[in-house]
Amino acid sequence: MFKLTQALLCAAAVSMATLAQAADPVVIKFAHVVAENTPKGQGALMFQKLVAADPKLKDKVKVEVYPNSSLFGDGKEMEALLLGDVQMLAPSLAKFEHYTKQVQIFDLPFLFDDLAAVDRFQQGPQGKALLTSMDDKGIRGLAYWHNGLKQLSANKKVILPKDARGLKFRVQASSVLEEQFKAIRANPRKMSFAEVYQGLQTGTVNGTENTWSNYESQKVHEVQPFFTETNHGLIDYMVITNSKFWNGLPDDVRNELQTLMDQVTVEVNKQAEALNQTARQKIIDAKTSEIDPLTAEQRQQWREAMRPVWDKFSEQIGPDLIKAAEASNKAS
Ligand code: LMR
Repeated sequence: MFKLTQALLCAAAVSMATLAQAADPVVIKFAHVVAENTPKGQGALMFQKLVAADPKLKDKVKVEVYPNSSLFGDGKEMEALLLGDVQMLAPSLAKFEHYTKQVQIFDLPFLFDDLAAVDRFQQGPQGKALLTSMDDKGIRGLAYWHNGLKQLSANKKVILPKDARGLKFRVQASSVLEEQFKAIRANPRKMSFAEVYQGLQTGTVNGTENTWSNYESQKVHEVQPFFTETNHGLIDYMVITNSKFWNGLPDDVRNELQTLMDQVTVEVNKQAEALNQTARQKIIDAKTSEIDPLTAEQRQQWREAMRPVWDKFSEQIGPDLIKAAEASNKAS
């Protein structure tokens, strides 16, 4: 009798534990490397807020956001995603080359005329296919988020490609971006985002490339007296998750999360350019640095100087994919 009671109690305890477990929300840790007042920073917070307010996800999913490389930074975050230590990331598209060569397309200099062209490519069949191109590596793309077009910064005035010769430029972990700076006879140096300010301050590097929102939020203007408005390339993101984690979610939860992600994507992509322009104005107001715009002829010189990079990577990326991206510059 005693044994039977004990067994019943045990069974009850086990099923209560199972119930408690079932009631625990799925935690989505969303880590990123930038500040909160940037397109990606805002997007992650928006996603967290929408999930928390969604009646279908209430008590089922909780999103935790870790900005500024506070949980994982460049170099560690992908591995952490694959190990299940973090569930969502939004790395810049320059940071995927170990997983897919095709995504390198977004680093080709002067590929897209503007963000509208980027949208047409990302939302078209070839762009969408890239979201699932890393499934075999365990990575699933959920969305593209814009940041914006890149500008150059340096410790000296750089108007033409020849002015950049011999300067050391920080680049993201991207072979295309390395080659881009080699093409203008500058010296690229791969460095994580968290190290950029110090690298510029101490002179480990003399310049870099980034968007206005990333410059301003990292206070790069405090250590860079010159910016050149080149708009020569793109910083955008792929929001990614661990495929196994994603596929293991109940269908209704996964579908609802994707619906919310799509809503956030529309908002982020609508607001990104305005955030960059606000940041640009703040840099002007800080009076620390000069911002030099380029004439069409000057910009053409940059385009020609960097163009050889395309030929170097065309085979890896795929000539047809490059053609499709180029075609997106013409609105249909
Ligand atoms: C960088 O590393 O320069 C940026 O791409 C960081 C980011 O995520 O915007």
